[in-house]
Amino acid sequence: MSFNINTAILKEFEDGLDTRFLAKSKITAKIIGFGEISTVFTINHPLLQGFAFKRLPIFSNDVQIARYERILTEYVELLKYEIGIDVLETEGVKVETSDRRFVYYVVQPMLPEFSICNSILRRVSIDNAVKLLRSVLINLKRIWDFNAKSMDVKVAIDGQLSNWAVRDLKYPEEPLSENPELVYLDITTPLYRKNGKEALNADLFLKSMPPILRSVLKLLFLKEVLDRYYDPRHTVIDLIANLYREKLTYLIPPFIEFANEFLRTYCAELNLKEIEYKEVEYYYKNDAFIWSLFLFLRKLHRGIVTKILHQRYEFILPERIER
Ligand SMILES: Nc1ncnc2c1ncn2[C@@H]1O[C@H](COP(=O)(O)OP(=O)(O)OP(=O)(O)O)[C@@H](O)[C@H]1O
Ligand SMILES: [Mg+2]
Repeated sequence: MSFNINTAILKEFEDGLDTRFLAKSKITAKIIGFGEISTVFTINHPLLQGFAFKRLPIFSNDVQIARYERILTEYVELLKYEIGIDVLETEGVKVETSDRRFVYYVVQPMLPEFSICNSILRRVSIDNAVKLLRSVLINLKRIWDFNAKSMDVKVAIDGQLSNWAVRDLKYPEEPLSENPELVYLDITTPLYRKNGKEALNADLFLKSMPPILRSVLKLLFLKEVLDRYYDPRHTVIDLIANLYREKLTYLIPPFIEFANEFLRTYCAELNLKEIEYKEVEYYYKNDAFIWSLFLFLRKLHRGIVTKILHQRYEFILPERIER
């Protein structure tokens, strides 16, 4: 299956893109998510409707893009075929702009907002919210089981509820089934290790940071940020702590209770310590600190690049920190 994305128009979009003031771009776009290495948006052009575009401006040449593309494909195949997670159909499009910048787009069908799990959590009962949590945990367990058996390859994902959607939900009020079937959509940061080595070059994560600080940030934070997704307990804490950011704090106690029971009953072999409320709270504060520091540094870098060096700045940054 192919999405038949019109590359010429995507190039026109990229050529006329104002990363600072999106509305001033030749073809405009609407942002639906800010990631660490990508920005997700829809593009206001009749021929690009119905798709979510994840823009990655972190590559310097074709070779780097080809390498990323290979890692992305391998990651999706691991998740789908080795682990058994349903991953949203995805296609990559390479764009070389007129001024010879290389930008990669990860394209997916645009799912209705009401089918993304964090948006479902806002309108359902606590019982239904816990059903979604259970479906996420069942998927995460598939990864942990795979990692336990696999000697050389270890896989991680960011389990947060904003990364999952209920497949084929037709309208917002449609009742959830007992075991909602989830599809995973956040694949732009492929996380897997072969013989202990991260497949994706970690430097790519730091592309939007001031160059002078990259090595110190790598040393201080990057390993911590990546390691947590390989660790079952941290992945679950991260997922629950994210409810603070979603302003769904009332779900935190029932989620902790359910997750502990799930881990005790179905993941006994992992022998994990119970998750405590305090920990989740502490984790959130620490996480919020790291990300706001990162955003501050990016803005600093943007200022230097645009105001002092008078160069084009590649990344689209959120104006406010929503953490
Ligand atoms: N295919 C899609 N259809 C509808 N909405 C989407 C789609 N993909 C992403 N989104 C929305 O955008 C948000 C961010 O997307 P995603 O999780 O892929 O990236 P991220 O977490 O911002 O990125 P990164 O992995 O680079 O840190 C999602 O939580 C979801 O709300
Ligand atoms: Mg995400």
